[in-house]
Amino acid sequence: MGNKKIVVAITGASGSIYAKILLQKLDNLKDQIKEVGIVMSDNAKDVWKFELEDETYKNFDFKFYDKNDFMAPFASGSAKFDTMIIIPCSMGTMGRIATGISNDLTTRAADVILKERRKLILVARDTPFSLIHINNMKTITEAGGIICPAVPSFYNKPKTIEEVAETVVNRVLDLAGLDNPSYRWGESKP
Ligand SMILES: Cc1cc2nc3c(=O)[nH]c(=O)nc-3n(C[C@H](O)[C@H](O)[C@H](O)COP(=O)(O)O)c2cc1C
Repeated sequence: MGNKKIVVAITGASGSIYAKILLQKLDNLKDQIKEVGIVMSDNAKDVWKFELEDETYKNFDFKFYDKNDFMAPFASGSAKFDTMIIIPCSMGTMGRIATGISNDLTTRAADVILKERRKLILVARDTPFSLIHINNMKTITEAGGIICPAVPSFYNKPKTIEEVAETVVNRVLDLAGLDNPSYRWGESKP
């Protein structure tokens, strides 16, 4: 078992497929991970059901926390969760993080990760961006967070929606420091 402790927050931006693929991959990489805690907003559950037409997040063998559960371990820096991934990340959640409004478990956990100088990865999703969004991205970047927008790549010639979405999730796993086999530019296609 690895020693990574990861928080995954899922919000109500479009792109539940990114969250689903991330959870599948984290499940496969369990030997590198000590603990995964998951929190979903209400809109995340609604958007997942609308876009994916299932509720398969319920099937994953990870611990889920209520969005208002401030007793969750990662609501405090002392629990030493080292990485937080918000996928997909809505502009609303990003704005609340950028302004320090820790009024739910996701924004509190992100606040904790930033204050403890640990790794915060926001898979921000909207298009186009307003100056408010861009300024919030700048603020979070200056505070040490990583904006990893839900922008897929196509140079590995993905054939399905899942393969397109996987290009984003693979970059997220790289940023999280997990050893995840994926296509690397310069290598032949896997
Ligand atoms: C189908 C659907 C798609 C949405 N897509 C986005 C999106 O891509 N980006 C975004 O910022 N908000 C999007 N929203 C709006 C958010 O769900 C809404 O702003 C919500 O308050 C975000 O709250 P949360 O971050 O706590 O989930 C979408 C809503 C719905 C119903």
